[in-house]
Amino acid sequence: MNKVAVYRKAHFNAAHRLHNANLGDAENAELFGKCNFPNYHGHNYELIVKLVGEIDPKTGYVYDLKKLADLIDECVIEKMDHRNLNLDVPEFKNLNPTAENIVVVIYNLLREKIESKYELKVTLYETERNFVEFPA
Ligand code: NI
Repeated sequence: MNKVAVYRKAHFNAAHRLHNANLGDAENAELFGKCNFPNYHGHNYELIVKLVGEIDPKTGYVYDLKKLADLIDECVIEKMDHRNLNLDVPEFKNLNPTAENIVVVIYNLLREKIESKYELKVTLYETERNFVEFPA
């Protein structure tokens, strides 16, 4: 059977602060620069979710993209959009909300809801030029 990749893009705004509570203020400032400013800053995150699977002969779809859009809304957008990631999202209570950590959290949230027969890959843009992908 032919395997086809399908994609859905989504968007959310969120605030964060990069900080490692196990390190002192000077080391945090050195490691994270402006991203360590105590009063947080925001990003317009762009999310790309990729599923790979076989075309279902009944529907002609790999995956119903409306269903995927709803899943992204429920699992990710509701949880992160217009939130402070450090304060409002429990996954980041003890996890530094870098793009790398955010993409892994998003992957895990979606992986739970998408059958294992589909390959899943998540790409997250923190800025136009900085983006991460999981799994690598
Ligand atoms: Ni930032």
